[in-house]
This record gives sequence, structure tokens and C-alpha cells, in this order.
Amino acid sequence: MSEWWRRGAVYQVYPRSFADSDGDGVGDLRGLRAHLDHLVELSVAAVWLSPVFPSPMADFGYDVADHCDVDPLFGTLADLDDLVADCHARGIRVVLDWVPNHTSDQHPWFRASRSSREDPRRDWYVWRDGAPDGGPPNDWRSEFAAVGPAWTYDEPTGQWYLHSYTPQQPDLDWENPEVEAAMHDTIRFWLARGVDGLRIDALQRLAKDPLLRSNAGSDRRHDQDWRTAHERLRGIRRVVDEFPDRMVVGEVYLLDLRRVLAYLAGGDQLHLAHNFVFVHLPWDAGAFRTAIEEFEAQAEPEAWPAWFLGNHDHPRIATRYDDGGHGPARARAVALLLTALRGTPFLYQGDELGLPDAVVPPDRVVDVDGRDPERAPIPWRPPSVAGPGAGFTTGEPWLPLVADAERLCVERQAADPASTLSLVRRLAALRTASPALQAGRQRMLDAAPGVLAWLREDGDERLLAAVNLGLEPRTLAPDEEATLLVSTDPARPSSAVRDLVLQPDEAVLLRLHGG
Ligand code: GLC
Repeated sequence: MSEWWRRGAVYQVYPRSFADSDGDGVGDLRGLRAHLDHLVELSVAAVWLSPVFPSPMADFGYDVADHCDVDPLFGTLADLDDLVADCHARGIRVVLDWVPNHTSDQHPWFRASRSSREDPRRDWYVWRDGAPDGGPPNDWRSEFAAVGPAWTYDEPTGQWYLHSYTPQQPDLDWENPEVEAAMHDTIRFWLARGVDGLRIDALQRLAKDPLLRSNAGSDRRHDQDWRTAHERLRGIRRVVDEFPDRMVVGEVYLLDLRRVLAYLAGGDQLHLAHNFVFVHLPWDAGAFRTAIEEFEAQAEPEAWPAWFLGNHDHPRIATRYDDGGHGPARARAVALLLTALRGTPFLYQGDELGLPDAVVPPDRVVDVDGRDPERAPIPWRPPSVAGPGAGFTTGEPWLPLVADAERLCVERQAADPASTLSLVRRLAALRTASPALQAGRQRMLDAAPGVLAWLREDGDERLLAAVNLGLEPRTLAPDEEATLLVSTDPARPSSAVRDLVLQPDEAVLLRLHGG
């Protein structure tokens, strides 16, 4: 039997927006615990929680003020223990978001570091004198365009500190072995408590040019993906391997696949890497085929792919690929694509409902980097019945819900066999029952223009998946007897097929019978 993290999907929960148990408008751990049946219905192998640690919430939890506790907004450490126990009782693993590149500026380490140049924690962060012209030490920019330079001047001690994200997220200095050891201990804290894995936030940022040279005039960036990253990651993996059966998935936000694969190499770094090349693909069969084949061709044979097309940092699939009304159908096609590709699918909460981005009026904007629309709360029940909080909250939701919560909510979709939720549940059940989908060989096929098609095979089980990414109906002609297992078009009758005309945005999964 293969490892749990290869078998089923990983479902990302953004806790602020999943379910609110106490009416303050922000989701919490008890809210999540009350909705675990939803995860069971989706047959997920694991749930990944975006950060729930104490935080001033300058970056909604990605600014951690204490790595070893739970923010009161989300609950208590005991609630998290209960959540882990409840998940385990249902066969669901729990993956926490571990943010090693930076802390909150309110973390006791940074408060000490900032207090004086002589403080023992001073060199836990990256402090430098300004440039001779009085500006920041080099030309590095924050990941968030609105922030500007990655440096902030701190008046009391007369130096600048580095922050790859907001000024409230000072970068730790991983050149310092004390920092590395302290961060390793935070991993042990959670894994010893029974947490099954970690998603490493912004892994590519963990190693920078120690000489802090400017990016300009160089053929490579000096502020991320420095070669020392791999040694640091191996150190992290050694700690994870002190515990049996755990998994680390890395956010390696690099758009060069070879550099991403370097973090998966050797069997002593990541188990899984989020491939951001995939998230940036246009809706084009050739582009998808190339991205899939490049992974298969360039990764080491033991490397296992992880496929995802949405998370809390990117516009929703249904919106990104909408292109004049195609969004809902394409979101369904993506669900089939991710289920049927060789690798672990990652699903972002709400993708199973085909949610689009929410409309966030200017006076409700809270994120510095424009990511509010994809973080809108999950609509659980029709607002006409449950009130404007749509079963997410009895209070005022921290972000507006999607416009069509009445129709898109979980309760409505669960009752409708033609809904996206029903489709995603069916796909998940198919994967659970299918060795070919979980672990089978994969071969891309030459199909009609605009159609992405591939085989999955394990022993006698042979499946054919196809997605029509084009704008024309296209014939799919398997050269053997086939049965339709599922189509993303609810109107298509399920029956034996020879020549099947795939509609635009339709995806199908067929069982092949040979001959
Ligand atoms: C990652 C997170 C993002 C966060 C950033 C800084 O990219 O996914 O939400 O803002 O890291 O921690």
C-alpha cells in the first residue's frame, strides 16, 4: 500500500473562512470540527490548515507571533488536539502550515532583536546599515508590490531589517544556526503532538545570498532560491523523519520547473512540491500537456507529482478561466483533471463548489495584495433560510460572501445530483476505489485538437481521461470498447461508448475493456 499522501487528495482549509462557531464572523477550529463530514464526503486523505497560530493578522496568520500555540480567534491548543483526534478517527491526516522564513514583528524574538544592537537575538533577523546614499541596503523588493522595498528602517537602533513580505513579517536569518535549531524545535512540537505533516510556506525564501548582493545587473536573483536552500531543507527533513509516516509539502514559488524539482531530488528533501508553473497555465490543451510531460520527463523516477490549480493566493479557478461564462464548466473539468492525473491532487476549500471570486467593495478590502476575493467564506446554507451569513456565521462575515451563495451553497449542491459538489464527491469515490487512478502508470495520448487525453493503467484496470479545452465539440474515439464512468456534463447519459463527442469544457473518464 502506498503512503497516505500519494493515495488521496489533500484539502486546504483556510480557517478564517471555513466555518465560524461563535458568531464573531471569523472561522475557527470548532467550526471546522463541526463540518468534518464534508471532508469525509470528499474522501480526502488529509486536510491542510492555513496558519492558526497566535498572530496580529497583518498577513492573516502568515505573521506568526508564537509557533507553538493557537490564536484565541481560532480556539485553543486543546481544540487543535481535538481536531486532530476527530480527523484521525475519520482516517483524515492533518497537515499544518509552517512559516519558517519570517515571524510576526510581535514575536518575542523580534521584539528582543529590535530592542538593541547588543541584544542576543539581534542576529536572529537580518539587520544592516543603509546604503551610502541613505537608502535601503540593497535593491530587494517585497513579494507584495504595494509594499515596495523589502527593507524597513528602524529609528531606535538606526538600521534596516529585511522583510520579503510585509514590514510586519521580518525575515529570520537562517544563516544563524540558533535560528535553525529553534525552528526545528517548533517542528518537533507539532509532530510530537500527532500532526501528520507540514506545508512549508515560502520555502524558496529560506536561503538568500549571504552577501546580500543586489538583484540588478545579475543573471539570477539573490533574494531567494540560493543554493544553501537544499542543505537547509535536508535539515528540516531529518527532523521530520524523526517521526514515522509524516509528510512535508513545500510551497516552492518558482516558475522554473527545474528549480522546483531540485527541491524534490534525492529522496531527502520534500515529499511533495506545489508546482506553480501549473497554476499559471492558460486554458490550453498543449500548455497542460507540456507541463505534465515536463514533470514526468525531468523529475527523478521516485519523485511524486502534486497537482493544484487554486489556493488562497490566486483568483478562483471558476473566475480565472471564466473567459465569458466558461468558468463553472471549466471548474468541473479541472476537478476531473486533478482526480485523474498521476499524483496527489490539492483542492482549495470552495473549489468543490465551483465557487467564483467574491466581489469585495473597496471599503471591505483587507489584504495588501488583492487576495480577498478568493478568501470569501464558504456558503453552507441558503441565505434565504440561514440569513446573510449563509450558515458560515451568525454574525457579520469578515469578508463578503460570493454573490450567488443561494445557489452555490453546500446544502443546495448536496441535494442536487447534477451539482459540482456531487460531481467532486463522485470523482473522489472513483479515485478511492481505483488502483489505476491512485498509483497507475500514465501515458499522454494524441487526441483531437484542443483535447487533453491520457491513460491510467494498473494491472487489468485501464482508464482513459479526456478534457476538451477547446471551443469546438471534438470526437473522442477510443479504439476499444469503453464505458463512461463519469462526465462533467450532467446531461450526458452513462452508457457504452464508441465515438463520443466531447463538448467544449467537458471532461470524461472512461473504463476501457480491451479488444
Ligand atoms: C505564502 C502564503 C501567503 C503568504 C506568504 C507570506 O506565499 O501562501 O499567503 O502571504 O507566504 O507568508
